[in-house]
Amino acid sequence: MNPHLIAGQPQIAYQGQQLYAEGVSLSTLAQRHGTPLLVYSKSAMLSALAAYQRGFAGRNVQICYAMKANSSLGVIQVFAQAGCGFDVVSSGELERVLAAGGDPGKVIFSGVGKTRQEMRRALQAGIGCFNIESEAELDVLSDVALKLGCRAPVSIRVNPNVDPKTHPYISTGLKDNKFGIAHERVVQTYQRAAALPALEIKGIDCHIGSQITTEAPYLDALDRMLDLVQAIEAAGIAIQHIDLGGGLGINYNGETPPQADQLWQKLLSKLDARGFGERALMIEPGRSLVGNAGVCLTEVLYLKPGEHKNFCIVDAAMNDLPRPAMYQAYHQIVPLQARAEATTLWEVVGPICESGDWIGHDRALAVEQGDLLAVLSAGAYCMSMASNYNTRNRAAEVLVDGVKTFVIRERETVADQLRHERLVQA
Ligand code: LLP
Repeated sequence: MNPHLIAGQPQIAYQGQQLYAEGVSLSTLAQRHGTPLLVYSKSAMLSALAAYQRGFAGRNVQICYAMKANSSLGVIQVFAQAGCGFDVVSSGELERVLAAGGDPGKVIFSGVGKTRQEMRRALQAGIGCFNIESEAELDVLSDVALKLGCRAPVSIRVNPNVDPKTHPYISTGLKDNKFGIAHERVVQTYQRAAALPALEIKGIDCHIGSQITTEAPYLDALDRMLDLVQAIEAAGIAIQHIDLGGGLGINYNGETPPQADQLWQKLLSKLDARGFGERALMIEPGRSLVGNAGVCLTEVLYLKPGEHKNFCIVDAAMNDLPRPAMYQAYHQIVPLQARAEATTLWEVVGPICESGDWIGHDRALAVEQGDLLAVLSAGAYCMSMASNYNTRNRAAEVLVDGVKTFVIRERETVADQLRHERLVQA
């Protein structure tokens, strides 16, 4: 059996017949903490980060982890300790950064619908920059900052109208998407921002989509961004930093996205060639830092072979792993204890009462009731999008560091879920 399940990712691999995360047997973790259980390898996260750091060696770059991918405190803490900043999209995410010991000065605040309250909180915390997504938002932010007696650092999110060639729900830089300011209006939007009393223009940003597996959309977006920087600066407005967003894809099912360091070598060469080599840069990677560092462990509850389909019913469901139901996403599913070659195809499904609750179609697995399986590449957009549908408790999370393990989230209880609900009092 190939010990490396995901190319280039040695942290989650079989040792003998048993699947391990770093130095820890996943079966042991499942027995100790129950299932469904999310397990993350710290070293896989740090090596994903290192690929970016290698690409940026010697440059002025701030890596802001897009924590929507996985906002668990223990995960944020790993990136905060490694010197990362954070891309947040709500004041809730900002509170998480602060709770995990992150530096608010390295926080950028993205999103199309920031409320006044969120703006106030972010200004009071002293965040690094707001990524502004509409002209109306500029006015509101200036007003909020004026009332607080401060100036708000801003960057304007440009919609570069580049097709990232990814799932329509996660493509964000096309002109029909709700994000950013249309290319044609960018210079006048900067002029408007410059005229507002309480804004301080810092940079320009874009984010063209997610799970991008080729380099061309990045190179195109960078060209368009640099054209805009030239036009904005020609209008007398200085741009300190360029933020190229996140979006780099990972290997879920044999995809071969560019490696972060190789992608950035190309992007940096373009910056150099166009005379922007000294410009400060920011990026907002999410999935590529955590996606392949996590697995979801689940137990086979029942096998239900049928005439047309064989169902393998597991204890993880679309509330724990929403990506298949939402995006028809593929996640590899493997046994924790390697078995003989599989001959049967299974529909791997969860216990939730709807047909959309599937985790994998037609998977060749040699399984028995009570077996433990791992759903791979579950580090990004799984726990952060988990829900309580069917009043299911959200799973526990364990971070592995070598042979050490840390419970970074206890399994939720029904009492936790009911805490904020009230019966109607007559
Ligand atoms: N910056 C901004 C402004 C974003 O909207 C996003 C993701 C990122 C950075 C990080 O992108 P990443 O590096 O993770 O691709 N739930 C979907 C993905 C939604 C992505 C939303 N925006 C999924 O599970 O595939």
